[in-house]
Parts: sequence; C-alpha cells; structure tokens
Amino acid sequence: MNITSTDRLWAESVWEAVSAKLSAVRERSASKIPFTTVQGVHDDRSLPETRNFWTNGFWAGLLWQMYQATGDARYAQTARFTEGILDQDLEEFEKLHHDVGFMWMASSVADYRLTGRPEARHRGLHAASMLSGRFNPAGDYIRAWNEKPDGDTTGWAIIDCMMNLSILYWASEETGDPRFRHVAVRHADKSLRHFIRPDGSVKHIVEFDPDTGEEVCSYGGQGYATGSSWTRGQAWAIYGFMISYHHTHDPRYLDAAKRVAHYFIANIPENGRIPVDFRSPAEPFYEDDAATAIACCGMLEIAREVPENESDIYLRAAIRLLKVMAAETCDFSPETDGITTSCSTRYYEDRHNYNLIYADYYFVEAVLKLLDRDFWLW
Ligand code: GLY
Repeated sequence: MNITSTDRLWAESVWEAVSAKLSAVRERSASKIPFTTVQGVHDDRSLPETRNFWTNGFWAGLLWQMYQATGDARYAQTARFTEGILDQDLEEFEKLHHDVGFMWMASSVADYRLTGRPEARHRGLHAASMLSGRFNPAGDYIRAWNEKPDGDTTGWAIIDCMMNLSILYWASEETGDPRFRHVAVRHADKSLRHFIRPDGSVKHIVEFDPDTGEEVCSYGGQGYATGSSWTRGQAWAIYGFMISYHHTHDPRYLDAAKRVAHYFIANIPENGRIPVDFRSPAEPFYEDDAATAIACCGMLEIAREVPENESDIYLRAAIRLLKVMAAETCDFSPETDGITTSCSTRYYEDRHNYNLIYADYYFVEAVLKLLDRDFWLW
C-alpha cells in the first residue's frame, strides 16, 4: 500500500499493540468461539445451541491472520481447535444459512490455503456445496436465512451475502468446475441490479418472487427503516463487490464498489464516527465500528486495484477512519479480550456500544492491509 512514512509508523504502532494484546487473548480464549465480550471477557458460542451462529468463523480467521503475520504456530493450533467444533454444524445442515461462507472461509479455507490440510479443503467444499444449494435459479438469488417466526423468507436476499460468494469462487478455483462461480456471478449480478440505489446507497433486504424473480419489495432490515442506509450493509456491499471483482476481474463489480464507497465517504460525519444508519435521526446516536472496519477493508481493496492517481481518495478515507477508531474506540489493553468497543448489531436492539469479534477481525485485517502484511482470506 502506498502510504506516507508517518502513516506507516502509525500503522506499525497499532500492529504492535494488537499483536501484544492478541497473544494474551489467544491463551485466555483458546477453548472458546467468541462473539462479544462481557465485562471485558470473551463469551463462548461453541455450545450446541449457538454453534451454528454466523460469526463463528471470525475468531479462527483472526487467529489465521495472526499466524501468517507472526509465524507463531499456537495461533494455528487454536484456530484448528475451533474449526473442528464447527463440524457438527455441517451434519445438521438444515439449521445452516447463507453465512456458511463467513463460517468456513475464515476457518477451514484459511487453514487449507495456509497449510494445505486435506480435511480443511473437504470442509470448505462441503460448505460451498450447501451455499450453492440455496441458489434459486428462477430468481437468480441465494436465499437468505431460513424461516422466521414473523414471516415467510423464501424470496429474501440480503446485501451481506455478497461476502459469502467468496467460498463459491474458491470452490471453482479449487476444483476447476465453474458451476460454483456461475452461481456466485448470477447472485452478484442480481444484487447489482436490485440493491444499489442511484445515489450509491444500498438496501439491506430485497424480497423477490421465488418463482419469477421479480422484485416484490425491500426492507430496512438491521437498519433504521425501509429506504434507509444501514452502514454495515453499505460496508458489505463495498467489500463484497470487491471480492467479486477480485475473482472475476469484471469491471462492473469494481465500479459498483466505487459507487457505494463514494456514497459512504460523502456521508462520513465530521467526527469520523460511523452511525448504525446514515439515515437515522441524529439522536440517539448509535454507532458501529464493525461497519467502519469492514468499509475500510473494502476501500483499501479498491485502493489496491485502481490507478495510483485514483487510489488516494479511498486510502485517505480508510486511514482517517482507522485512526479515529484506534484513538477513540479501540481497547488495546492485554488485560481485556476485545479490541473494538463501539459496535451495534442492528439499529433496534437493547444495547449498543459493545465489542464484536468480526469488528475486531476486520480492524486487524485493515491494519495488516495498510502494512501489506495481510493474507487474502476471501
Ligand atoms: N448478517 C450479517 C450482519 O449482521 O452484518
């Protein structure tokens, strides 16, 4: 990454703090699969009732990033322990969902890419096969979630799923069979047509007629309201379209990522703290460091792909946001388990401003990207 020497020194210092912290956290959380922290201590989602939760690959992903950046085999050992716990989810596949890409890319496929372990490849291909099974060929979309108590979700697709396409691209690259990639491209093209609004903002949920593929309506989902702009959804779109660009080199995906990034950058508040929704009331102010970190990763990928005279806008925006996070909302103390402290999973929830494992993951990935020390996990 073409960054100034001052920014490099800053990124180095953040990396030092992160690696000192994670070395201690790895030891304390070696038998857990964390989602958040409770009074500074990681919770554990590895028990049967929470084992299939969509975030359960990120702890392994963080450990694999640390393993490749430090060479310390203890990170790989802990990552593999959590990878094994997820096996039962593959057996109970009816409880699984579209987020199998997040779960097994960050755990098994990362393992396979870094160490070539055959069991890890097998798990990754199993998850990719399940994700392809959620594709609706009449509607050209991958179905999100399973039945919900409040309604039928057969026709639902969500912008987040752009991130899960990585496991399909990987499966085609790995097996030489293009069928997984064809599913990914058809879902990406449908998302391109139906999720991005003319101003560059992005819808969270779109409902399609499952027999014709016609758009029925959209929902605000985890954001403020229908027609609003849930920031994590904007971030998934930026990074998600860059993932499709990375694997296909189709310039329409790069263009889409840039349009959403321009909208995102234009809406960054003066203080550099990203709200849960760009179109929510000013008060109460709920923020989401996960949206910030994911958007930064996406913008840094754009900066890598565009000519140097264009890359500055994405690089500057990402560095500015990461600096605000590091100075104001990150916790680098080795005594506590979480790095981020100001996340929200959705606009309407009882608590805000807490730690999330995936925000930690993307923050560390972004810092490693700045230093050109990241491992391409997606
Ligand atoms: N469904 C992924 C998220 O909450 O961002």
